[in-house]
Amino acid sequence: MRTILFTGKGGVGKTTLAAATALRSASLGHRALIISTDIAHSLADALDTPLGNEPRPVNGLLEAAELDTGEELERYWGDVKRRIASLLRQEGIDAIAAGELAVLPGLDEVLALVRIMRYHDEGRYDTLVIDSAPTGAAMRLLSAPDLSRWYTGRMLGLSRGLARIALPSIRSLVKAPIGEDAIRERITALFDQVERLRQLLSDHAATSVRLVMNPDHLSLQETQRAYTYMNLFGLAVDALFVNRVLPDDVQDPFFETWKASQAEHRQLAHELFAPLPVFEVPLMRREVVGVEALDALASSIYGQSDPAPPLAEEQPLRFYVEGERYMLALRVTGVPGGTVTLERRGDELRVRLGRFRRTLALPQYLSGMDPTWAQVEGEYLKIAFEQA
Ligand SMILES: Nc1ncnc2c1ncn2[C@@H]1O[C@H](COP(=O)(O)OP(=O)(O)OP(=O)(O)O)[C@@H](O)[C@H]1O
Ligand SMILES: [Mg+2]
Repeated sequence: MRTILFTGKGGVGKTTLAAATALRSASLGHRALIISTDIAHSLADALDTPLGNEPRPVNGLLEAAELDTGEELERYWGDVKRRIASLLRQEGIDAIAAGELAVLPGLDEVLALVRIMRYHDEGRYDTLVIDSAPTGAAMRLLSAPDLSRWYTGRMLGLSRGLARIALPSIRSLVKAPIGEDAIRERITALFDQVERLRQLLSDHAATSVRLVMNPDHLSLQETQRAYTYMNLFGLAVDALFVNRVLPDDVQDPFFETWKASQAEHRQLAHELFAPLPVFEVPLMRREVVGVEALDALASSIYGQSDPAPPLAEEQPLRFYVEGERYMLALRVTGVPGGTVTLERRGDELRVRLGRFRRTLALPQYLSGMDPTWAQVEGEYLKIAFEQA
């Protein structure tokens, strides 16, 4: 099963392009499923058909679902959450805060993604398209290797400590308390799943991320950051979609400035993300709603080719640690050597190697550091960062 995650800034066209992609895969004979993990679902509107938490047939081999992340959270975490929350309440933390504290940020999203594992194991689908990739909080949860042990320890420590100080009268108020072993077991089972999910998401043959942007300044900025984060967490971005490009036959003078600005941002998108394949998607005459309109959009993007296989093989940007140094490796294949110039401005790094230029959004943990060393090794320009 190939999994394709669509992500991008609000309103840029993620749901539309995800649906068009899933639909094209299905019409080429693959069993395709699209699921939305966004709380404010609009997949049903885009497909123009009612959807629920479990997949339903939509058209031919295409099925779709709108995940109820609350329901998934309840299923995997419900009684653990209640146990922890009731202990926190005994500590005097108010009920709402206690409920929130009992859930790690991003956990609901991660649990929704655990579904990917289920479909992967069941083998019912060839293509799984996810509308809305995991956000930063979910990715941090996903990629922290020792989180399971840390969290189990913290939660057990907390519940032991609180159980000792809680008055017996209050203790009896806790409905059906679940024991330490059960909590430990539940957390371990959950994080085993999370670890498998992490492996699947970072397996480039199995999973691709596709970024969606509009040709404007804000969207370009956000896409650069998203690209950095996806690379940071080891996910393979295999295409960029520049959506809502004004067609050439729009000649109304009102749009002149828009068209000039779009041209500039389209150009930048190609430059900043090379060698990533960039698909430009025209602004259609009307909203893209329903199977027919989505199919027409899919044709304009993919032609008759299969959208499911990886669209790019290499990973042009990598972050890693080498000894004490934080490293960044940028693929510079085909760039004739030259002097390396590095300039950090806030969370941006400008890289120059001879005539090659690239501006990168730096992840948070590097933004307070300065690049102190750089060297071309093989096909990569390696850059080391140290505390400023
Ligand atoms: N190329 C296009 N031409 C015309 N309309 C488009 C195009 N792409 C998207 N739209 C329309 O723009 C609206 C927003 O698109 P969509 O819901 O796909 O964005 P989104 O990124 O998923 O938004 P959200 O962040 O709210 O989930 C929809 O009405 C959709 O039909
Ligand atoms: Mg959407």
